[in-house]
Amino acid sequence: MRNLPDASSSSMASTEAADGTVRGAVGQPLRHESAERHVTGAALFTDDRAAPANLLHAYVGLSQQARGRIVALDLEAVRAAPGVVAVVTLEDIPGLRDIGPVYPGDPIFADGEVQFYGQPLFAVAASSRDAARRAVRLARVEYASLAADLSIEQGLAAQSFVRPSHTQRRGDAASAIAAAPYQLAGSLNVGGQEQMYLEGQVSLACRDEEGGITLYTSNQNPSEVQKLIAEVLALPLNQVTVDMRRMGGAFGGKETNANQWAVIAALLARKTGRPVKIRLARADDVTATGKRHPFRVDYRVGFDARGLIRGLDMSLAAACGFSPDLSDAIVDRAMFHSDNAYFLPTARIVGHRVKTNTASNTAFRGFGGPQGMAAIEGVIDDIARAVGRDPLDVRRDNLYGPEGGRDITHYGQKIERHILPGLIERLEQGADYRRRRGEIIAFNQRSLVLRKGIALTPVKFGISFTVQHLNQAGALIHVYTDGSIQLNHGGTEMGQGLFTKVAQIVASVLQVDVAQIRPTATRTDKVPNTSPTAASSGTDLNGMAAKNAAETIRGRLTDFAAAHFGIDPAEVRFHNNRVQLGSDHSVGFGELVQLAYRHRVSLSATGYYRTPEIYYDRERAEGRPFFYFANGAAVSEVLVDTLTGEYRVTRTDILQDVGQSLNPALDIGQIEGGYVQGMGWLTTEELVWGEDGRLQTDSPASYKIPAVGDTPEIFNVALLPDSPNVEATVFHSKAVGEPPLMLAISVWSALRDAIASLDDYRHSPRLDIPATPERVLAAVTAAVAARGMQTATTGTKAASPMEEEVAVETKEEMEPGMDA
Ligand code: MTE
Ligand code: MOS
Repeated sequence: MRNLPDASSSSMASTEAADGTVRGAVGQPLRHESAERHVTGAALFTDDRAAPANLLHAYVGLSQQARGRIVALDLEAVRAAPGVVAVVTLEDIPGLRDIGPVYPGDPIFADGEVQFYGQPLFAVAASSRDAARRAVRLARVEYASLAADLSIEQGLAAQSFVRPSHTQRRGDAASAIAAAPYQLAGSLNVGGQEQMYLEGQVSLACRDEEGGITLYTSNQNPSEVQKLIAEVLALPLNQVTVDMRRMGGAFGGKETNANQWAVIAALLARKTGRPVKIRLARADDVTATGKRHPFRVDYRVGFDARGLIRGLDMSLAAACGFSPDLSDAIVDRAMFHSDNAYFLPTARIVGHRVKTNTASNTAFRGFGGPQGMAAIEGVIDDIARAVGRDPLDVRRDNLYGPEGGRDITHYGQKIERHILPGLIERLEQGADYRRRRGEIIAFNQRSLVLRKGIALTPVKFGISFTVQHLNQAGALIHVYTDGSIQLNHGGTEMGQGLFTKVAQIVASVLQVDVAQIRPTATRTDKVPNTSPTAASSGTDLNGMAAKNAAETIRGRLTDFAAAHFGIDPAEVRFHNNRVQLGSDHSVGFGELVQLAYRHRVSLSATGYYRTPEIYYDRERAEGRPFFYFANGAAVSEVLVDTLTGEYRVTRTDILQDVGQSLNPALDIGQIEGGYVQGMGWLTTEELVWGEDGRLQTDSPASYKIPAVGDTPEIFNVALLPDSPNVEATVFHSKAVGEPPLMLAISVWSALRDAIASLDDYRHSPRLDIPATPERVLAAVTAAVAARGMQTATTGTKAASPMEEEVAVETKEEMEPGMDA
């Protein structure tokens, strides 16, 4: 582990920055405020809270049909089961029964018809979790089966959608493609992804003396779950308080999908008058909650002899599951990123929201962006092989640029800062791309069994919620009379380091050590009406709101000090835990606070921020939906065993623009983690449903997320130095939460590159996502067949004399540890 300065303990040696600013101010590589407590187990998650007296445990009965009318729901045996105190069904709900976050469609319990395997039907509260889980299995449910659409193709064939399709259009793509010197058409299946947060869905609801609810939960959106509990229980919002200290990971899976369990706990708490906790077992959690959307992509592209795109016609069809949830915005974001970093002179991008009888797919790091971006990166690779150029050259030529009108996206947003051309150049040099490309071509010519591939792919990711009103935040800061500070804001901590960064921002404004600031649990009674912590905008929004609050307090202290000491406000300067008063006098921050308190100065302030300038006219599919773009690029190199389809990522180099980093340690952590999580999505994480619609990959035993051993052997991550200092963001920093996930597209691209080598890079191999070893092997087989040589897998002599010659040599080429 890196030896980083600690944000939470004051016992560590001072690591005052070179410029003399306070310990913990922005830009310093502090460790996460809870890092030590995470590791020692002292950090409390919802399930770790001391059980309140009379606690009951809830569990849910889940459907065992993908689609069917409920003919009978007999819960007699459930009610009579040992330990059961209460049972609730849809009929027990006093208020709203549908908790769809944007559009209706998410009944708390199946309403007459079950719509996916694993849909909640009812819930119980019992004396123990074990008793509750045993009881729900005693339900007798009769269904009249209905035909279920499980795949995108089935849903498309039935023209079954959760929301209307949407089109973004620039110019006449069809004519431009037809008139272009070259055309290509293709399709790509992109799989979904399970969030696999370490801490599963969990909520604890406590009823108070007035019949209101206090909820402790693991949820990215405390204000929304507050509102939903109020609506479901028919209470005013002020009767519901949500407390959210931290999540053990969320990744979008707790943006809306944490609400149902919280609402059920609240419903049972209200019915029994006792505190109720619900914590889903992993298999049920994975089965009953939504995931990243699988997509089917179909495209036609026209380009010239150098691979410059003339027109793109792309259809993005997402499997949304049974309800709209956030799918409208997610498919929109896929469409917004179907250009990635490339100028599309003409384009028609269509997004379909296909209804499938599966759990309702939801937010997952990147929010549709990754699927759109993977699609266009695949297209670029196809173009490169069609024109016989290095894909990197085709990428560079197609980038947005300041000249020739190549700076407007297909939805009309102007690209104001062209960071990628320079960033890519720098990465290309730093990672020694050209030399390695040459070596890889030479290696592949000599090597029969093992093949190498390399790819450099960029990321341009739009920052802001595409739903305009969500781009606002609030904060609340209390300064106590000893100068210690409590910091609260609407953002939630899920491991990404938001609380640490916002504390650093406040430390900088007030010029105190970050150890003096205590971030407190996100609570709807402290900062109300907040947005989800999502869209990577947690720090951008809440950091600004907290900065605003801190500046209010600093302003009050300044005015007070100026008046009290009879100096000009400009002579009051906060610096390094002290306040300079004129040229020859200073007091400690705590002393000034004490003095201000005794002179009746308010030491508590709220702060607020809303992002300026953004809008999107969906009717015209035009606007400026993003405040700015986060940019980065990665070079990945892979080694593929063509006999088995197994592969390893042997080296990765990343350069990411985070503006002026608030905390380089946390930013690099987000980049490494995001990249590896993206690798999982693109390579090993495969969701498999049975014909009955049951998700068969419902645990880590059958669903393979990357492990430490899967991380690249060489893994160089750097932050772009001298990022242009122009964004009006908090301390000129840029969002980092989601963008790095998409850097992993370079792994998929490198795998295709390695496979394409089997055919001398003449054809672009089809390689659906996730590129599991099975799919790689199938693509290898197809590439070998395309070349017309005898397959390497038969073990007989290769048809090509060149390869026969090197067959012996290949053994020596095998790298240690590659168990072929
Ligand atoms: N990092 C950790 N450790 N755990 C998480 O759950 N979620 C990701 C990202 N990084 C996540 C994470 C997602 S989906 C988002 S949108 C952002 O963090 C949200 O936090 P931010 O806006 O503060 O970056
Ligand atoms: Mo992140 S998918 O926006 O929660």
